[in-house]
Amino acid sequence: MTEIAIYGAGGFGREVNLIVQQLIKKGYPYHFLGFFDDEDKSSELGKLYLGNTAALNHWKTPISVALAIGNGKTRKKVVDRIRNPRVEFSKVISPYAVFNDIISIGKGSIICAGANLTTNIEVGEFVVVNLNATIGHDCRLGDFSSVMPGANLAGDVKLNEGAFVGSGATVLNGVVMERNTILGAGGVLTKNLDAEKTAVGVPAKTIEK
Ligand SMILES: CC(C)(COP(=O)(O)OP(=O)(O)OC[C@H]1O[C@@H](n2cnc3c(N)ncnc32)[C@H](O)[C@@H]1OP(=O)(O)O)[C@@H](O)C(=O)NCCC(=O)NCCS
Repeated sequence: MTEIAIYGAGGFGREVNLIVQQLIKKGYPYHFLGFFDDEDKSSELGKLYLGNTAALNHWKTPISVALAIGNGKTRKKVVDRIRNPRVEFSKVISPYAVFNDIISIGKGSIICAGANLTTNIEVGEFVVVNLNATIGHDCRLGDFSSVMPGANLAGDVKLNEGAFVGSGATVLNGVVMERNTILGAGGVLTKNLDAEKTAVGVPAKTIEK
């Protein structure tokens, strides 16, 4: 039996918990312990609030942790602060996601219900593929990248580390989103996006921030 907890007790944390509970119902050997969050959630969650990052760093037994944080930069900051060797970052994959011949899915990644990943796809570490996102052939999703609900990556798209594709956005065939880029919700990205840039609209244009 694997003891599992969720880091992040916000809305996405509750969604990740739904996946964990569905996996348990299907016989997955998880024992769910509760949530960690740096904000004190004890009044809301009672005994299911396990404490903050310091509490996780002092956890005395092996524990699997799912990172339920939508923003990749924040996920990275949290990962960098967790130093307890007893912590293993679990990948949490909804039983209602559709998979075909995926090359790999790295530790700490979360794949939500309705996500559909086709063929020859590589998913790095601490990636989030949210509800109903579609990931086409030959895509590469770098560490800490995020694809939000209903977004579509056409074939051969590359998301470098920390790239973020907003809800309902589309990235066209062969396009590369460099490190820490953002495509705004509903945008259509037709050309490569340089590192740290944000683009919005149809076709997406960069905005200064
Ligand atoms: C792109 C985004 C990150 C920009 O956020 P921001 O830096 O706070 O920028 P602002 O809201 O100040 O907007 C800057 C400008 O871009 C425009 N803009 C922002 N988001 C836009 C979008 N998705 N599509 C078109 N235009 C957008 C704003 O209207 C504003 O234009 P203006 O300067 O002419 O008034 C954000 O709007 C977005 O789309 N985030 C994705 C949200 C998401 O998908 N969440 C998933 C939750 S599960």
